[in-house]
Amino acid sequence: MRVTFNDYKTVDIDSLPINEEWDGRNVQENLMHRIHAYPAKFPAFITTKAIEYAESQNVAIGTVADIFCGCGTVAYETVKANRHFWGCDINPVATLIARAKSHHYDSEHLTNYYEQIVEEFYIQSFNEDDAIANNERVKYWFFQQQIEDLSKLKRAIETTVDNETYRDFFLCAFSNILKSCSRWLTKSIKPQLDPNKKPHDVMEAFATQVKMMRKANLVNEINEGLAVIETTNCLSKIVEKPFVDLLVTSPPYVTSYEYADLHQLSTLWLGYTNDYRSFRDGTIGSLHGENHLPDHLKHLNDTGKDIVLKLYAIDKSKCRSVSQYYIDMQNTVKKAYELICPGGATLFVIGNTEYKGVKIDNARHLIETLLDEGFENVEVERRKISNKILTPYRDSVGKFTTDKNSRKIYSEEFIIFAKKPLCLNN
Ligand SMILES: C[S@@+](CC[C@H](N)C(=O)[O-])C[C@H]1O[C@@H](n2cnc3c(N)ncnc32)[C@H](O)[C@@H]1O
Repeated sequence: MRVTFNDYKTVDIDSLPINEEWDGRNVQENLMHRIHAYPAKFPAFITTKAIEYAESQNVAIGTVADIFCGCGTVAYETVKANRHFWGCDINPVATLIARAKSHHYDSEHLTNYYEQIVEEFYIQSFNEDDAIANNERVKYWFFQQQIEDLSKLKRAIETTVDNETYRDFFLCAFSNILKSCSRWLTKSIKPQLDPNKKPHDVMEAFATQVKMMRKANLVNEINEGLAVIETTNCLSKIVEKPFVDLLVTSPPYVTSYEYADLHQLSTLWLGYTNDYRSFRDGTIGSLHGENHLPDHLKHLNDTGKDIVLKLYAIDKSKCRSVSQYYIDMQNTVKKAYELICPGGATLFVIGNTEYKGVKIDNARHLIETLLDEGFENVEVERRKISNKILTPYRDSVGKFTTDKNSRKIYSEEFIIFAKKPLCLNN
């Protein structure tokens, strides 16, 4: 069932029936989507369905964009569908993966470069002055043997792979072995040290990773790279003229992932920063921020204000971070409107959550924001999230719990589609 929101306040979106068409459980994803782990990656089939749906609504699609492109799920599927892609992410690890994913590599070049990297690794000696190898945080996460090998491997990649596109491929491989070669608790979604872990050998892990990526590249369904991917805060992007026909995106979750902290091994090793915390600034959904609550209350829409005021009575710090999130989301929609051509459309994938009994209704907040901004034909579908979680609560470190006072994870989320009017009234 599809609902058009003439008056979004009167419709109970949580009671919408689940639309099986947006389930996608049986759709096999291309192996390229698995070349690097990424938290909150969304299902690839959503892009294809979004393009089909927008076209059925008379949107002519040349360029698809994703302003929170993450590891490039939309980028890959857009290029596969032979359209242009433009995307950005504030996280340079995300854009590295997205760039690596949206190319088809020549197998022979990959083999040659790989052999040269291995050869170079074994003739090099460890440079004791390598600043990254001496970073305190790196020393915290890695044993000395892995530090020396990673330092040599990174230098081997940088000195032998002279083509930038191919260098992205190998740096992406390098980035994805960091957790297994470190003392990071396996599969943890929070930075947590495992004192009993036996980290992998660097060159063995690299060989396995490159083999997996080369196998994925063999079944890579894209030919030419038609993707432009920028590392930038989408809210600061200067848009001189709209150029996007369809924006497909899944915004950061409200205060659940601290992306800067989660990717710290990669941001440190790849030399993007020597203090990973600097990447928290500007990241939407970060828990770390200043207190602008009084000012926010002047700008939040009705749904946002209502939720924030309910939280104020329970947890002032949570209230401040949620209010920052809603202000950022309102600015995101403004940016989306600037980017999209008249007659174009946007599709957001967004979920709700609950905190100590207060419903954090992100979907309703987004619908109100889209309507306020001038989008029209706002439609909502409710979809089941395939990896159904048995217990819906998470504690403060992200572990599953039965404690109902903890953060509630829903097993459904919303697909929200909206069009920018063809004729603008101003
Ligand atoms: C839910 S994830 C998107 C995942 C993506 N759909 C995928 O499949 O990989 C949200 C992304 O928003 C990014 N992000 C957070 N704040 C941002 C900002 N201000 N500008 C651009 N990207 C931002 C995060 O780094 C993260 O990659």
